[in-house]
Amino acid sequence: MDSVKTLASALAPLCGIDEPTLMDWIEVPKNTEMGDYAFPCFRLSKTMRKAPNAIAAELEAALTLPAGFTRCEAVGGYLNFFTDKGAVADTVLRRVLKEGDAYGTSTEGNGKTVCIEYSSINIAKPFGFHHLPSTAIGNALYRIYKALGYNTVGINHLGDWGTQFGKMITAYKLWGDKPVDDYSIRELVALYVRFHEEAERDPSLNDEARAWFRKIESHDPEARTLWEKMKDATIREVKVTYRRMGVDFDSWNGEAFYEDKMQPIIDELREKGISKVDQGAQIVDLSEWNMPPCIIVKSDGSTIYATRDLAAACYRKATYDFSKLLYVVAYQQDLHFKQFFKVLELMGRDWVRDCVHVNFGMVSMEGGAFHTREGKVLYLDDVLDAAVEKTYDIICEKSPDLEDKKSAAEAVGVGAILWSVLYNSRIKDVTFSWDKVLNFDGETAPYVQYTHARSCSVLRKAGERPAEYDASLLNDPESVALLKAIAAFPEAVRSAAEKYEPYVVARAVMQIANAFNRFYYEQRIMADDPAIRAARLALCDAARQTLKNGLNLLGLSAPERM
Ligand code: ARG
Repeated sequence: MDSVKTLASALAPLCGIDEPTLMDWIEVPKNTEMGDYAFPCFRLSKTMRKAPNAIAAELEAALTLPAGFTRCEAVGGYLNFFTDKGAVADTVLRRVLKEGDAYGTSTEGNGKTVCIEYSSINIAKPFGFHHLPSTAIGNALYRIYKALGYNTVGINHLGDWGTQFGKMITAYKLWGDKPVDDYSIRELVALYVRFHEEAERDPSLNDEARAWFRKIESHDPEARTLWEKMKDATIREVKVTYRRMGVDFDSWNGEAFYEDKMQPIIDELREKGISKVDQGAQIVDLSEWNMPPCIIVKSDGSTIYATRDLAAACYRKATYDFSKLLYVVAYQQDLHFKQFFKVLELMGRDWVRDCVHVNFGMVSMEGGAFHTREGKVLYLDDVLDAAVEKTYDIICEKSPDLEDKKSAAEAVGVGAILWSVLYNSRIKDVTFSWDKVLNFDGETAPYVQYTHARSCSVLRKAGERPAEYDASLLNDPESVALLKAIAAFPEAVRSAAEKYEPYVVARAVMQIANAFNRFYYEQRIMADDPAIRAARLALCDAARQTLKNGLNLLGLSAPERM
């Protein structure tokens, strides 16, 4: 089934290169006359000390062609492979149609635990458009790892600790006009803004804020309750947004959770002589690694972000015994992660090699940053609402007879936004434009979702799905290309996890959508010949299934009607 894997394992003993590397090297030629797969032999000329031509010829002679292949041919330094189309078509179709929603999943994770930290929003702060990449990428990785048989733990490392909560309480006590539970995030943000404005005029407010924060720290019941309620109000509201995006978490343990878990770390650093006192602060000198020091305890005795991250990593290791801990956090924090990973290493936590900062680039709105014109933060909810509204108009135009336009618009509008940060390598900065993300004919989620709905509609109109079909009838170029794109899907899922790059799945899904549309326009699915019709309907069904599975792995829904 997995032709690339089959080829790689046949080639491995002949060229002394491991299978995964070979799988990366094997190419799919654009021109199918050059074969269905090609192995570039120039990659071996260094180790085998021979010209690529000679290597290709040698491999051709030595190789026993694996099952599923009809022929192999050495041409200009490449070894080209031709598959047995009928046999491949048959295996692919049967596998997809048998596995259904599970097509693309595997058990390779073997129950090993992967912790994935993503979104990690801040309490009483806007859930902004800039949180989109972490939320979307993290959620996709969560789903992809789960599909590969890993035990996944999704963590929202809430920013729920810090002196700003002293300010929040001060502001609420002064100007609050209803129970704190009833506050929306925007109202909480307004309180915070007001605090800063008034503190300009009356600096004593800052002292009051410090006093309130100390009360939170010392577990004063009133301070604690107010702070908890602000947290609850924020979480209640963001959960609605998360639900729209198909996002969920297993743990909401934020920074505050580590309040009582830092002392042992602080002590250990001091006792082992890893940290030192510098101008009253406790720091770890990292100059040997060309990094600024990692501050553990500030001179006023307070702990900071990095200390909580140290405690969080140790807690997660002890609690989940992860085989991997992924942090889906913007590249602006590259240095922070390098620093605290180094400190963990100095502490002898050898599992730090399993911690990965899965970083990503910036998102910005066309013609501005992720702030509105007035300099205010753009709320993610507003972006989602706008996308849904615009999609609704497009759907009304395209499909005036559609019954449930509202839910289709929600699925497609939200999907379009998620896709905008899932279709490219993470590290690329994304400039967001409405025309681009909502283009039903571009490389967008709406295009893929529309293609999926089209496959559903073909099957609906055809009535019953054929119980039997002869896959060898699918030998026209469009069917062959579509089968190949469908067959490549499981490997894309695996590779996306290995690289922490959901775009690999997104690209594979796009290839299937493109191949399906070519197939749809070039070949009459409802052919007069019942045997051909049955085979094409089976292929249509397999495309539908794979598109659906791919969209779901990325956190998008796949409406059946659009
Ligand atoms: N709450 C932080 C922010 O909004 C992100 C937290 C990232 N995660 C971490 N473990 N440091 O910037």
